[in-house]
Amino acid sequence: MLRTENTSYTVRLSPDGPWAELDAWGPLGVEEGPSALDWSRRTHFITPADAAPAEYLPYGLRPFTGADFVAARPGEERGVWWEFDGAEEGEGALRLAFTDDVLGLRTVLCYETVPGTDVILRWTEHTGREELRLERFDSAAVNIPVTGAARLTYLTGQWSQEFQRTQLDLPRGTFGIGSLQGVPGHAYAPWLAVQDGDAEAAYGIALEWPGNWHITAEAEPGRSLRVRAGRVPHEGAVVLVPGDTLTTPRLACAFSPDGLDGLSRVWHRYERHLAGDRLRRPRKVLYNSWEATGFDVDAAGQLELAKSAADIGAELFVVDDGWFTGRADDTAGLGDWYPDPTAFPQGFGQFVEDIRGLGLDFGLWVEPEAVSPASRLYAEHPDWVYRIDGRPTRLVRNQLLLDLGRTDVQDFVIGTLDRLLTAYAVSYLKWDMNRPPTERGRPGAGPADRLDLDAEHVAGYLRVLDHLRTAHPDVTVEGCAGGGGRIDHATLARTDVVWPSDNTAPLDRLSVQFGFLHAHAPHVMSSWVTDAPGIFDPRPRSLAFRFVNAICGVLGVGADLRAWTPEKRAEATTWIARYKEVRDVVHHGEARLLGTPEDSTCGVQYDAGGRTVVAALSTGRLDGAPLLPGRPDRLRLRGLDPAARYRDTATGTSYGGAHLLHHGLPFVWSADHDADLVVLIRA
Ligand code: GLA
Repeated sequence: MLRTENTSYTVRLSPDGPWAELDAWGPLGVEEGPSALDWSRRTHFITPADAAPAEYLPYGLRPFTGADFVAARPGEERGVWWEFDGAEEGEGALRLAFTDDVLGLRTVLCYETVPGTDVILRWTEHTGREELRLERFDSAAVNIPVTGAARLTYLTGQWSQEFQRTQLDLPRGTFGIGSLQGVPGHAYAPWLAVQDGDAEAAYGIALEWPGNWHITAEAEPGRSLRVRAGRVPHEGAVVLVPGDTLTTPRLACAFSPDGLDGLSRVWHRYERHLAGDRLRRPRKVLYNSWEATGFDVDAAGQLELAKSAADIGAELFVVDDGWFTGRADDTAGLGDWYPDPTAFPQGFGQFVEDIRGLGLDFGLWVEPEAVSPASRLYAEHPDWVYRIDGRPTRLVRNQLLLDLGRTDVQDFVIGTLDRLLTAYAVSYLKWDMNRPPTERGRPGAGPADRLDLDAEHVAGYLRVLDHLRTAHPDVTVEGCAGGGGRIDHATLARTDVVWPSDNTAPLDRLSVQFGFLHAHAPHVMSSWVTDAPGIFDPRPRSLAFRFVNAICGVLGVGADLRAWTPEKRAEATTWIARYKEVRDVVHHGEARLLGTPEDSTCGVQYDAGGRTVVAALSTGRLDGAPLLPGRPDRLRLRGLDPAARYRDTATGTSYGGAHLLHHGLPFVWSADHDADLVVLIRA
C-alpha cells in the first residue's frame, strides 16, 4: 500500500495468475472493504487475465483485451509469459518483478509516492538477457471502477487553440489520444482525467514525455475503465540490447475527491514540487516585442519599446525571433545564432547594456533545434538534419529539424547557448520549436529499425535543458513550441515557465488558460497583454480584461506600446503594480477555477496566507441594468471559512465567509467594465 497525504493506492498479487492487480485507489481508508474492482471470476471466450484489473500485463498472458507490453525475439512469435519474481518495498516505494525465463526478460513495475503531493509515479523497467524487439512498452495501466459510462476529460485543440477542455462519456469502446509529432503536440495534452459519470471523485494521469506518446482508455464490460499510457517509438518497435535496461517514462497518477477542480490543485502542487528551489524565484513582469515588431528587429526600435515597457513597470525585456543574421522573415537564418550587425550597429553587447541601463533584465528567443536551408549551419552540416536517403525533405515553416539525438548536434546547441549566455548579460531564454520531424531518419547510422530516434531526441533535449540549469542557474527558461506544443512534466521540471499558446486574444486566451489550469500550475503559465483581436472569439474586451486574464498566471506584455495613449499606459502601470502586489498569492497559493468560459462570469480564486485574490472576467453577457431591473453577476468562492470575515482591500466592503461561499462575490458589469481583480483579507 502506498500512501500520500490524502490518498492510498493498494496493489495485490492476483489469485488468478502471475500479475499484480489494483485493489483500491482513492481517499485514505478506501482499501478497507472488498475491492470495488473484485469480479465474479467467470469468463467466457476470454481468459482471467483479460478481465483482471491488472497493473501491467504482457501480450501472451493477456491475449485479447489490451496488453501493456508486447515483445518477441527477432523473427519469433510475439508474447511474454512471465512469473512473479518478488517485491521490494521502500519508504513510499514499491517494486514488483516479473521474469520470463524463456526470453530472459525481467520486468519491474515501479511505484513511488511524491512527498507533499497526492501523486504516485509509476513506470516500468525492462531488462533482457538476449535481444528482444519491444513493440509496445507502456509506462503503466490504471484501472478505475465505474458504475456506468466513464466521464473522460481531456485537453485538446490545434495551433493557437490549445488546451480546450473537452469531455465525453464512454460507455463501451476505446478512446485514444496521442502525438506522433516528436513533441506532445497541440492536438492533445498528455493528460487525462476520469470520473465515474457524474460522481465528483476524479482520477488523473499525466505522462512525463516530451516525444511521441499515447493514452488509451478502454471501457470494459465489467464496470471498469482501464487506461494505458506510454511512449510510442518512431520506428514502431525498439530493440532491447542484451544486458540493457529500458526504463519507460514516468506516469504521474493523481486523485482528488473534489472533482476536476480539486484534481487541478493536486497537479498544481505537483508542479510546484517539480520546480524545486526555483519555485520561489519571482517571475518577473516581461515585455516581449514579438507581436509589436515581428521580424523587424533593430536596436533603435527595440530600445524605444523597452523604454515604454520600463515606464509601465516591466522588469524584463525579451527580444523574440528576428535578432540574428539573415532573419528578415521566416525563410532564413535559423542555425546562425549571431546577432545581426546591421540591426545592432553599436554591437549587441552595447544594446543589451542599454536595455539593462533601463533597469530591465534582458531575455532572448532561440530555436536551437531548427535550421533554415539558407543558413551557414545547413551548408556546413547538411547531415545534421533528419532525412531519408533518396527522399525529398519537406519544409515546415520553411525550416528543417536538427537531429538532436546526435551528440555532435547536442554539443553544437550547448556551445551556442553557452556562447550567447556568456557573451551577453542574458538572464531569460525562450526556447522555441516550430516544426515537427517529417522525414525522420539518420542515414549512415546502421539499420533504421535498430534506432530509437524519438527517445534520442528527447534525451538530447533534456540534456541541453539540464545543462542550462546547472551551467546557467540564474537564467530563467521559458519553454515554447509554436505556442503550447511541448508541455509535459519533463519539460516543466527543467523550465521555469511555458508558453501555452500563440493566441493572445482575450476570450480565446481565457479558454486556453481555463483548460491549461486544469493540468498545470499558475506559476508556469506565461501570459501576455497584447493588442490581438480574437481569432475564435472576436468580441472586443477591455484592457482591464486583458490584464486580469494575464495576471491569472505569469504576467507579460506583448502589445505595441508605441501606439498606446498616455491614458492606456497609465492604466497598464496601475495593473502591473497591482500584479506585483498579488503575484505571490497567484503563484504560490491554492488556485480554484470558478465557473467556465461558457458562463457570463468566470474567474480564478487564489488563496495564501489569509489573502484571497479573485480574478473575475465577464465573458460578454450583461444583465440589462441600468435599463432593466437586474442583479449583479456573482462568483461563488470556495474553500473559505464560513465563520470568518473577509474585507475587500479596494472598497472596504466586508463579507462573511458564509456569504461568499453561498451567494458569492458580486460584480456589476457594463460594456466597458468587464474584468476585476478583487483582493480580500481575512479579518
Ligand atoms: C513561435 C512562438 C511565438 C514566436 C514565434 C517567432 O510561433 O510560439 O511566440 O516566438 O515563433 O517566430
